[in-house]
Amino acid sequence: MPLVRPASAGELGRAEELVARSINDLTVRHGFGPIATSRPADFQAFCLRDDPRGVWLAEDDGEIVGFALSWVCGRLWFLAELFVAPGRQGQGIGNELLDRTLQHASQAGATEKSLITFAFNIVSQGLYVRHGLLPRVPIHLCRAERESLREAHGPTLCATPIGTAAVDLEMLRQLDVATLGVSREKHHRYLLGDPRMKGVFLEEGGERVGYAYVAATGHIGPLAIMHAHAMPAAFRAALAIAVAGDAKQISVFVPGTSDALAIAASQGMRFALPMVLMSTSDCGDWTRYFPRNPGFM
Ligand SMILES: CC(C)(COP(=O)(O)OP(=O)(O)OC[C@H]1O[C@@H](n2cnc3c(N)ncnc32)[C@H](O)[C@@H]1OP(=O)(O)O)[C@@H](O)C(=O)NCCC(=O)NCCS
Repeated sequence: MPLVRPASAGELGRAEELVARSINDLTVRHGFGPIATSRPADFQAFCLRDDPRGVWLAEDDGEIVGFALSWVCGRLWFLAELFVAPGRQGQGIGNELLDRTLQHASQAGATEKSLITFAFNIVSQGLYVRHGLLPRVPIHLCRAERESLREAHGPTLCATPIGTAAVDLEMLRQLDVATLGVSREKHHRYLLGDPRMKGVFLEEGGERVGYAYVAATGHIGPLAIMHAHAMPAAFRAALAIAVAGDAKQISVFVPGTSDALAIAASQGMRFALPMVLMSTSDCGDWTRYFPRNPGFM
């Protein structure tokens, strides 16, 4: 059995290479082709600095064969990554890494556990169900070439930039508590510090009723909205910002419980990857929230 130990900052780049390899092995096996490229481990480094109790790796003979990362916000523990090297799966390594990150949940006093995994991975879902996390909400990665996206008809919301003033952070806290049940202030600070990310408040009748982030890559999310009836207008507003940029592709993770999924399909977006939210209880209102990605949530 490999050695399971806390990861250090200098190892995160190699760990992310393993994550990309493990994702591509899985998606190729299921006919989706290779979807992952190794990216800078910026969010992972942020999580490690914030709370090292959630970052673990499995090492065998100097080689990283497994990696796990969890973060906690208030009572919510979220498993951002759990990956075992192809060829080393089914040997108990994932289970061992999961145990360590679950200890992070109890140390931090988190009572709700959640994660987003591949809807077609029976192994990961089987493992999580054993630990009390049940599949709850389907989530589709929707994608389109920017040039081919049809014009969105219907009401939209006004977008104004989010700043880092206390009043803005307090508004973000209220929106997160209303939609997810917890504050994610540290994660907003992380996003707002990224120059490639545009964060906006969404306004209805001059009132801030939601927020959305759009990356320079054309990716939308996270997005949160106070009332479900405003979700279509919020999504159209975020789409308009993405379309006004110069990214080649527009992409977004849309929960199947949200009215926005039908809009994505009618705009000509294709479903590229089916994911599923798993959790210990019905936490958060996924009719009013889009995750940024399966790790950030
Ligand atoms: C998911 C993953 C992390 C699990 O790690 P692993 O080392 O392969 O898993 P383990 O050997 O510790 O445990 C596998 C468990 O899966 C479960 N499992 C496997 N096949 C299953 C099936 N068909 N139905 C239900 N449960 C199943 C069992 O609980 C099994 O444990 P057991 O052998 O003690 O019965 C790993 O397979 C992986 O990296 N997969 C590809 C990437 C991925 O999907 N990651 C999850 C992202 S959230």
